[in-house]
Amino acid sequence: MATRKFKDRSGCELGPYIEYDGILFPILPIKTPLEQHLNNIANLEIRPDDILISAYPKSGTHWVWEMVRMLISGSPEHIKDSKVGRMLEFKETKTIDDLPSPRLLNTHLNVRHLPKQIFTKGTKIVHVYRNPKDIAVSFYCHATGIKRNNGYSGTFHDFLDMFLREKVAFGNWGDYIKEWEEVFDKGETPIKAVAYEDMKKNPVKHLKEIATFLELDVTDELCAAIVDACSFSKMKPIAETLKEKAVDITWKEGSSIFRKGQVGDWKNWITVAENERFDEFIETKMKESDMKFIYTL
Ligand code: A3P
Repeated sequence: MATRKFKDRSGCELGPYIEYDGILFPILPIKTPLEQHLNNIANLEIRPDDILISAYPKSGTHWVWEMVRMLISGSPEHIKDSKVGRMLEFKETKTIDDLPSPRLLNTHLNVRHLPKQIFTKGTKIVHVYRNPKDIAVSFYCHATGIKRNNGYSGTFHDFLDMFLREKVAFGNWGDYIKEWEEVFDKGETPIKAVAYEDMKKNPVKHLKEIATFLELDVTDELCAAIVDACSFSKMKPIAETLKEKAVDITWKEGSSIFRKGQVGDWKNWITVAENERFDEFIETKMKESDMKFIYTL
């Protein structure tokens, strides 16, 4: 399949992507060709005790994955196992097959690209969502921060234009959210949605709700200890020192997945005119959606 780059309005390139089934996939760090890989994922053998974390990129996947991993293990200890090493699209399915149980899988894939057995075997899903303005800022910092292809060299304003024109990796945010909303509405899948912003505001309460959803018998003390161990300031250095390097992606000096970890940083980046355009985009895109997003705390 052909790779493709997109030029922003100033001529800076974003990508390369592979356009497949309506999604702009980034070049995944695997050897299997994309179509075959997605086919392998669709047919992945799911185990009864698998749990899946799903999130659009930059919604807090690393954070929630780590907290849920600690909930399952019953300990607030950090270990070398990483979220990326259990990410459906970033690993060969053979690697996922070889992981010991219980597997805490995670993905940015759209619903239609998930393993089919997730829905036939009643896999529990924790779905993380975040306001799209902070996502756009975080996405830009990710795109400029990685070394691969030297990263994106454009401005935030040009990147935002691409985000609103739906030319960023993993397809567009609105369609992704709506696909997941359909899963909630159907009511056939055990799924717990958690907003990044709610987690920031009241992490112990929401972590306990996740534990209840996962039928894990945990104490308030354990939840509080996990929240503390997974605070932004503690997770950032641990990611750099302890965690396995599960994929070959390197960051430029000073850049990291663990960037700022706050709600409302978008106000430092988005102009008044861009904010109006963003609001219009959300209104149009989400007019049939009941999802509500939190923009400030
Ligand atoms: P920012 O770029 O706004 O700081 P993902 O894991 O889905 O790629 O999401 C990355 C975002 O989650 C980044 O947002 C990152 O800083 C934030 N994040 C990571 N760990 C966090 C933590 N422990 N607490 C709060 N936010 C965290």
